[in-house]
Amino acid sequence: MATLRTSSKNKPPLIPVSDPAYWQDPYPILAELRGKYRTLYTDTGELAVLRWDDAEWAIKGHDFINEGIERLEIRGFKAGDSLHTWRSHALGIMEGADHLRIRKLVSGALSKRSIEPMRAMIRQHANRLIDSFPKGESTLNAINRFAAAIPRLVMMDFLQISSEEVSGSEKPLAGARIPDCFGPKVTAKMRDNGNRCIQQVMDHVAALYESRRKNPRDDFLTSLLNAEDEGGKLSHAELITLFSTVFGSGGTTGGAVASGLLELATAPDQAKLFRSDTERWKKGVCEETLRLRPGIVELPQKASHDFDAFGLSFKTGDTISIPFGAPNRDPSRWNNPQKFDISRNPDTWSLTFGLGAHFCIGQAIARCTIEEALAVFVERIEEFELAKPALWYPFVMENRLQGLSLKISPRRF
Ligand code: HEM
Repeated sequence: MATLRTSSKNKPPLIPVSDPAYWQDPYPILAELRGKYRTLYTDTGELAVLRWDDAEWAIKGHDFINEGIERLEIRGFKAGDSLHTWRSHALGIMEGADHLRIRKLVSGALSKRSIEPMRAMIRQHANRLIDSFPKGESTLNAINRFAAAIPRLVMMDFLQISSEEVSGSEKPLAGARIPDCFGPKVTAKMRDNGNRCIQQVMDHVAALYESRRKNPRDDFLTSLLNAEDEGGKLSHAELITLFSTVFGSGGTTGGAVASGLLELATAPDQAKLFRSDTERWKKGVCEETLRLRPGIVELPQKASHDFDAFGLSFKTGDTISIPFGAPNRDPSRWNNPQKFDISRNPDTWSLTFGLGAHFCIGQAIARCTIEEALAVFVERIEEFELAKPALWYPFVMENRLQGLSLKISPRRF
């Protein structure tokens, strides 16, 4: 159990993000602190905004904007490093006209309307994966066999790329968890690994791009390539970062599917309710999972000008962080917020996909994947429970389980 440390007598406590125990269950600590303080520093020096109203206001408005490349520089990356180059062209750190220009290019392909027809295909993938589970009672590595496998297949369909084409990016992405290079404890080894692996991903996407240039197809990558050719719409470096972001984000979705399985395995009453009418409850299951187990740990922001907020004065460039686990469980917005309750109104959104200008552009494909994957799982696996306690990785930027071992009853049909 992580403990709260105070910086000195009578001073407010620090959020103990340097303590590995904190990462196993940060939520009770965040709840206690949020009850007493609007903002608090972490023990690595970041100012965290804890309450729903403050966090929603900060993300939605224009007083704070996304932190930008500075976050990576604070973690020790320099101009010229491969990850620095990659991130410099990411939508997430752009503002204004550049940001709008790139968002417009991909928002249609990733819109709810474009993604909805993929539900049947997602269910088919889920069913095929379950067909391959052992027939009798067994213990399942639910991440490898299901949670991580589903978004991979969905992304391959969406991008229309083959397993062979995908593997060139997959191997380096598995070798270094790039999002953790933004986390609170980045070592020189992680930086070297992150730079090496993202370079391999960029080289691989550049090779894919060349193959589409020679043999254009009616697919996502060819449409980006056409946008590049039209001049001024997309630079080559932006294309590489955008394509690898979309592809790599499947990993965040896989983490959410695993979180959903964990919640359902430890709340059999909710699993039973879900199984009774998956069509009715799938949205609630997905939204509750995302609220309680935000895939991304925090959102770093910086002040766009001088102003006062939360009882503090900010100068241009001053930074804050929004640890989603605090506002997403604020009792001012949800009754009994620590409970996984799939019957809550699913339209009461959490902050897990951000809000406003940078609202996650992949949220529709992520939500459809999570909803359908979990629905098929409970339809076909009558009973499942944890075979051993699930542990979380510490010091991450992308929340993820170290493993998820489920004892499952025989699968149905
Ligand atoms: C459960 C899965 C996912 C979670 C929790 C998640 C979360 C987020 C968050 C918190 C942001 C930042 C919002 C902000 O800066 O205000 C974001 C942005 C973004 N996400 Fe996702 N995401 C997920 C899946 C995806 C997928 C599947 C894709 C691609 C298909 C994707 C692509 C993006 C992109 C391109 C941005 C940058 C948008 C911008 O800055 O305009 N995400 N996501």
